[in-house]
Amino acid sequence: MSFLSETLSRVKPSPTIAVTNKARELKATGKDVIGLGAGEPDFDTPENIKAAGIRAIEEGKTKYTAVDGIPELKEAICAKFKRDNGLDYTPAQVSVSGGGKQVLYNALVATLNPGDEVIIPAPYWVSYPDMVLLGGGTPVAIEGKLENSFKITAEQLDAAITPKTKWFIFNSPSNPTGAGYSWDELKALTDVLMQHPHVWVMSDDMYEHLAFDGFRFCTPAEVEPGLYDRTLTVNGVSKAYAMTGWRIGYAAGPVELIAAMRKVQSQSTSNPCSISQYAAVEALSGPQEFIAENNKAFLRRRNMVVEMLNAAEGITCPTPEGAFYVYPDISGCLGKTSAGGAKIATDEDFATALLEETGVAVVFGAAFGLSPNFRVSYATSDEALKEACTRIQTFCAGLK
Ligand SMILES: Cc1ncc(COP(=O)(O)O)c(C=O)c1O
Repeated sequence: MSFLSETLSRVKPSPTIAVTNKARELKATGKDVIGLGAGEPDFDTPENIKAAGIRAIEEGKTKYTAVDGIPELKEAICAKFKRDNGLDYTPAQVSVSGGGKQVLYNALVATLNPGDEVIIPAPYWVSYPDMVLLGGGTPVAIEGKLENSFKITAEQLDAAITPKTKWFIFNSPSNPTGAGYSWDELKALTDVLMQHPHVWVMSDDMYEHLAFDGFRFCTPAEVEPGLYDRTLTVNGVSKAYAMTGWRIGYAAGPVELIAAMRKVQSQSTSNPCSISQYAAVEALSGPQEFIAENNKAFLRRRNMVVEMLNAAEGITCPTPEGAFYVYPDISGCLGKTSAGGAKIATDEDFATALLEETGVAVVFGAAFGLSPNFRVSYATSDEALKEACTRIQTFCAGLK
């Protein structure tokens, strides 16, 4: 019998972290590598936020805190939900964890029983299915089609719901596609959910503030107040505030669910880093102008990447509404052989050959549950992106 648990054997390591590590290793050997795999902004954490962290250290705020967040941060989170989303929550409805990842994990572990199904629109953030498996549940993917900008329809959602469905995980703007649901598109989904009162909604709003071209972000509990009592609205400071390493994520929802999540956290990791919590208070309550500034750079990069990838032979790249990803389709590249002699039968073959022959690191679509595609994270410098897209164009032109 294996020493490792059966549950763990069903889970795979994060492919995005694997690509980032592989790119790092190749770089360390002196290879000219451009990493487009990492899901984090290249910007530095704003000075006022860093200063709040330093102040917390100097003031000795370095002890254990309340398990699921200091009162100041919970207050700031309630104010944020009111300000940005029109949602009323009290501190007892809020949970703070070590990143959005831990929030989602706590919620799933706290609620899933064997046989429970969790509906996940594909392509999805790589961790959702594996977290569901770790929680003992069964992930059920629904495919968003390229023709519909990778978004699922109300009919697809309705058809996927069974008596065993416990959660529907919603993520807009999406990792990996950047696709954002409009109010009407989301309303069509929430109308379906209103007819299935046993299904809870986990809305991962991590990319809320990364939206372009006037796209108006909306979240399920806002679009359909009737879902408020069975929705967990998840967010965090990692992406919008360039704070990935600080590890602060949070969620708001029904008190009983929040208490259950606190129980998981209290017996596993306890409070998230005290210093990071004070920095997060400043992030959520301090000046917000730099978000729009950063978005100007992201928009410029998105436009350049979409244009350059669409100019590559065999690639079709939709223009997404938000996040910092694009998810080009590579149907036109399959069945060919690269200049270096690699057969391209799958998107994984494409990504492997691209890295080995050109030094450009992207994550293959199968990792996100929808092929044949790859994900580009354009949260890197304009120069690096231009060079990477030029290399992708040359790679595609060399496919025979
Ligand atoms: C959709 C989505 N949700 C959650 C997370 C987790 O973010 P955090 O770094 O706060 O754990 C990520 C990070 O990549 C993400 O892309």
